[in-house]
Amino acid sequence: MSNNYKAINWNKIDDAIDKATWEKLTEQFWLDTRIPVSNDLKDWHQLDDDHKYLVGHVFGGLTLLDTVQSQDGMASLRRHVRTQHETAVLNNIQFMESVHAKSYSTIFSTLNTPDEIDEIFQWSDSEEFLQNKAKWISDIYNDTAEDPLKQKVANVFLETCLFYSGFYTPLYYLGHNQLPNTAEIIKLILRDESVHGTYIGYKFQLGLKERGENEQQQMKDWLYDFLMKLYENEEKYTHLLYDPVGWTEDVLTFVRYNANKALMNLGQDPLFPDTAEDVEPTVINGISTTTSNHDFFSQVGNGYRLGEVEAMTNEDYEKWANDDPEK
Ligand SMILES: [Fe+2]
Ligand SMILES: [Fe+2]
Repeated sequence: MSNNYKAINWNKIDDAIDKATWEKLTEQFWLDTRIPVSNDLKDWHQLDDDHKYLVGHVFGGLTLLDTVQSQDGMASLRRHVRTQHETAVLNNIQFMESVHAKSYSTIFSTLNTPDEIDEIFQWSDSEEFLQNKAKWISDIYNDTAEDPLKQKVANVFLETCLFYSGFYTPLYYLGHNQLPNTAEIIKLILRDESVHGTYIGYKFQLGLKERGENEQQQMKDWLYDFLMKLYENEEKYTHLLYDPVGWTEDVLTFVRYNANKALMNLGQDPLFPDTAEDVEPTVINGISTTTSNHDFFSQVGNGYRLGEVEAMTNEDYEKWANDDPEK
C-alpha cells in the first residue's frame, strides 16, 4: 500500500523561514504591465547606437537567464525540499521568474523595433559566453543524479552573481536620471532575486550542516572552483558587451562584489577583495531594494507599490532562524 498523501497545513509550520519568505514574496508581488515604460522613450531616443545596443543585449542576456530559472531552476529545486511549505515558496518563485523573463519583452516592445527584437533574440539564443552560463547552470539543474546541494549552489550563483553584469546597465542609467521606468522594472526583479538568493542559500546551509566534515570540504572546494569558472566566463561576456562603451572594469568590480554576496548567501567566505566601496557609487545607490512610490492607477511616478514592503536583511533571517517555529 502506498503512503497517504499529506495536505499542506499552514497552521503547523516546520520552518518559520518558509512562512516568512512566502509572506515577503507575496507582499512584493508585481507585474511588468503596470510600469509605464513608454515614459522612457524620450531618454531612449537620446542614446547613441552603442548604448542602445548595450541596453537591448543586456536585457536579451537577462531574458535567457530568467528563462532558465522559470523553466528548469525551480523544477530542479522542487525535487529535494525539506518541507511542503518550501514547495509552495518555490512555486511562487517559479511564477515570478516567468514574470521576470516576460518583463524584458515589455521593455523591448516599447523601446525596440521588431527587427531589433528579432536580432536580440537570435543573439541571446546563440552567443557563446551567454550560452555557457545558461548551459552550465541548467546542466546541473537537469541532471537528476546530481547532488541537490550543488543544484542550490548553481541557483544562488545565478541569482546573486550572474544577473549583475546585466543589471549594471539599468542601474547606471537610474543613477544618471535616465530610463527610470525601465530601471524600476529591474529594481523589482532585483528585489525578488535578493529574497530568492537568500532563501535558497539558507536551505543550502541547512543541508550542508548535515554532511560530514570531508563532504563539507569537498562541497566548498567544488563551489569555489565552479564560481571561478563562471567568473572567467563572466569576464569574457562583460568585455564583449561593455568594451564598446568603456564600462568593463566597473562592471567587473560589480560582478565580483556580487559573487562575494552569493558566497555569503551560501554561508561561505568572500573570494574577491571588492567591497561596496569599490563599486561605482551611482550603481550601488540603485541596488538598494526599495522602490520609488508609484500610484499605478494614475501611473504617476515610476515606482510600484502593492502593500508596504521593505528590503529583507540578513538580520531578518537570523532572527527567524533563531525563532522557535512552534511559537
Ligand atoms: Fe528572476
Ligand atoms: Fe530569482
